[in-house]
Amino acid sequence: MKSQDIRSKFLQFFKDKEHSIVPSAPMVLKDDPTLMFVNSGMAPFKEYFLGNAQPKNNRIADSQKCLRVSGKHNDLEEVGYDTYHHTLFEMLGNWSFGDYFKQEAIAWAWELLTEVYGIDKDILYISVFEGDEADNIPMDQEAYDIWKQYVSEDRILMGNKKDNFWEMGDQGPCGPCSEIHVDIRSAEERAMVDGKSLVNMDHPHVVEIWNLVFMQYNRKANGSLIALPNKHIDTGMGFERLCMVLQGVQSNYDTDVFTPIIREIETITDKNYGKNDKVDVAIRVISDHVRAVAFSIADGQLPSNTGAGYVIRRILRRAIRYSFTFLDQKDPFIYRLVDVLCKKMGDAFPELKSQKQLIENVIKEEEASFLRTLDQGLVLLDGIVKNTIGDTVSGEKAFELYDTFGFPIDLTALILSEQGLKLDEQGFKEHLEKQKNRSRAASEMSTEDWTILIEDAEQEFIGYDTLETNVKITRYRKVTSKKDGDMYQLVFNLTPFYAEGGGQVGDKGYLEDVNGDVVYILDTKRENNVVIHFTKNLPDHLNETHKATVDAKQRYRTECNHTATHLLHQALREVLGNHVEQKGSAVHSKYLRFDFSHFSKLSMEELRDVESFVNARIAGKLELKEQRNIPMEKAVEEGAMALFGEKYGDTVRTIRFGQSIELCGGTHVKNTGDIWYFKIVSEGAVAAGIRRIEAITNDALKDYFVDVNRTFNDMKVLLNNNEPVKALQNLQEENSNLKKQVEALLKDKTKNLKGDLKNELTEINGIQFLAKKIDLDAGGIKDLCFELGSQFDNLFLLFGAENDGKALLSCYISKELVSEKGINAGQIVRELGKHIQGGGGGQPFFATAGGKKPEGIEEALKAVEEYLK
Ligand code: SER
Repeated sequence: MKSQDIRSKFLQFFKDKEHSIVPSAPMVLKDDPTLMFVNSGMAPFKEYFLGNAQPKNNRIADSQKCLRVSGKHNDLEEVGYDTYHHTLFEMLGNWSFGDYFKQEAIAWAWELLTEVYGIDKDILYISVFEGDEADNIPMDQEAYDIWKQYVSEDRILMGNKKDNFWEMGDQGPCGPCSEIHVDIRSAEERAMVDGKSLVNMDHPHVVEIWNLVFMQYNRKANGSLIALPNKHIDTGMGFERLCMVLQGVQSNYDTDVFTPIIREIETITDKNYGKNDKVDVAIRVISDHVRAVAFSIADGQLPSNTGAGYVIRRILRRAIRYSFTFLDQKDPFIYRLVDVLCKKMGDAFPELKSQKQLIENVIKEEEASFLRTLDQGLVLLDGIVKNTIGDTVSGEKAFELYDTFGFPIDLTALILSEQGLKLDEQGFKEHLEKQKNRSRAASEMSTEDWTILIEDAEQEFIGYDTLETNVKITRYRKVTSKKDGDMYQLVFNLTPFYAEGGGQVGDKGYLEDVNGDVVYILDTKRENNVVIHFTKNLPDHLNETHKATVDAKQRYRTECNHTATHLLHQALREVLGNHVEQKGSAVHSKYLRFDFSHFSKLSMEELRDVESFVNARIAGKLELKEQRNIPMEKAVEEGAMALFGEKYGDTVRTIRFGQSIELCGGTHVKNTGDIWYFKIVSEGAVAAGIRRIEAITNDALKDYFVDVNRTFNDMKVLLNNNEPVKALQNLQEENSNLKKQVEALLKDKTKNLKGDLKNELTEINGIQFLAKKIDLDAGGIKDLCFELGSQFDNLFLLFGAENDGKALLSCYISKELVSEKGINAGQIVRELGKHIQGGGGGQPFFATAGGKKPEGIEEALKAVEEYLK
């Protein structure tokens, strides 16, 4: 069975059991501070498990892209060394939100595996939670009794909290689980060693394929468990492992999910898979990592230096490092694998296909830059080795290389061992630990449990229509971090406050109680579908009604920028072409930032066209046309474009101004005329193929004009002229004339000097020699050397000069002398550089050294004379 068919059979099976089939959610999470990436099939549904939202159908099934590379579930370092762990994998899952529970979940899993996929019952094992005293939870007898109906009891094993109690993070919904393991060893091996003894023992051929989680608890911040009001089912089956079983192979990498990529790596690198352990690990690492990186970029997450972007960068660098060392690849090539990946998976995941070129460009650029880092690192490591006394390289130096230059520590260790040297690994670890502690302390945050003031309260956002309303506080909690100190998070039954999202910042404002006492709301964010208001203090009368008011001025400025962002998006597609896609946006009250795919710098003319396009629509006073809760298909039909990496519900909101129509949850001006005017203030590159524009509107633009005007007036005063442009042109002209005169004077000076210097030459061992301090700049000295040089074939010159407190040494040697006597100006200046505390180099016949100690020039001049003698 081909992997495509395995995937569709799963979905069809659950569709027949009345599940809605949904597409995979994007992997990068936007409104969940506890999780960076989707790390299991259930993560995108957390809001349903927590009861913050209701699904349309309480039975859902899908194949979800998951990334286990950070936080509680992190498999990164294992990937490549075994045949069944991955960074990115697909998790096939079926869910019940308060609907069916253990009975159906178990029956259907068994039916699908043994009847639809036809897996032999005799190679399957089941595990059931044995209970845990500390948590005060009993053994899962219910699951055990149900399994007994399908499997003989000697195939049911008891499992501990580590394996059989599933928790997504430190807090949140959790519950006991039953794992289904499969034994794919040969019949002889199975006869010799009982498969049961190998379950959960990291055996590559006795592996877990499906986990059925019975969600019935919620883990609170203080570690205690409380029962969830509704019980849920969360199952997750490893798609690649299932393919391994059904395709009768012994490794995930031998399934058709990976083989096309592996064949391509073999072709490009001229290495074979399956012949050498180290090469095999490298090939597995690369074929795994290219998937993780390509899918992340398609979901809008570019490699970067912070947060999720940094995790992606590290994955790609791990792949580059393995290909560099074990496949001898010194040039970018991983980007070339994107093509096969798109062919293989582009149908199931269209985001890959449509963004192929961007993915390739970004990966290629990252590869090139990291390979440069590796090159530099090798040179630096060489220097460290040269300065090492004894046979052990200091951990501190290796840490510096790792920390400042991103040079991988295992590569350092490998290179050292090849040279018969050791690395002080303990020292390295200590430095690493110190640094980790520093950053941990900086980012440490503790979150208390919610204090519930009103049970089961729902929340409604009314901030599209009003900025002020009376609210009840339904719950609150304290959050403490090093950065912000103590803060409170409040939830209301009703809120006019817009929560940060879709690039737009969260609203600020205040809460006022009946006595007129005010608590400021400093920010608003959304977490698992709940709007949370941040305050420094807790209101005194928590149970009373408060008036909540949004800071209207900041909201209005932000709206001007948000609407302008839509017009800018439209303008860019119009002026540059339809390849332009939004890759990120930040809408603040003071400015807007827009990232988009485009392959070259925008010309002045293009920027002007974009600005005029937007300003024409502002001048056109286009009215806002908003539609709420319309079906996604209808919005797309009308011309709205879904963005990659965004999660949309079944119904969406559209925002239209003239011909600009977007899917958007943000807030906007009522009429484009409100924006007043739009101005681009910068344009540049963010990554390969991604440009960034920053722009301002309205009040910020008024301030900008006032500033520009002030500078202009200052200029007029300085130039003492009412026509500053003309005055500047005159100045420039005057300046260039003066420059010419100075140059002519300098030439004369050099000429005179040349005559004088010729008389000062002395002969040492048949060489015409002069070492002297002179008063010329670097260019003048070079000219002088070459002019004098043209008259001799046995000339040796060393000039010292002092400019702006810095020392310069220039050495000239006739080419004939270089070849006859084997002397080299480059080597000589490097040596002499010591006298002036500096260094330099150049060619054998002409080289210079710069340094910070001009007093050393005389010494250098003397030293060279000694040398020649
Ligand atoms: N959440 C469970 C897991 O990730 C099942 O989907 O294993």
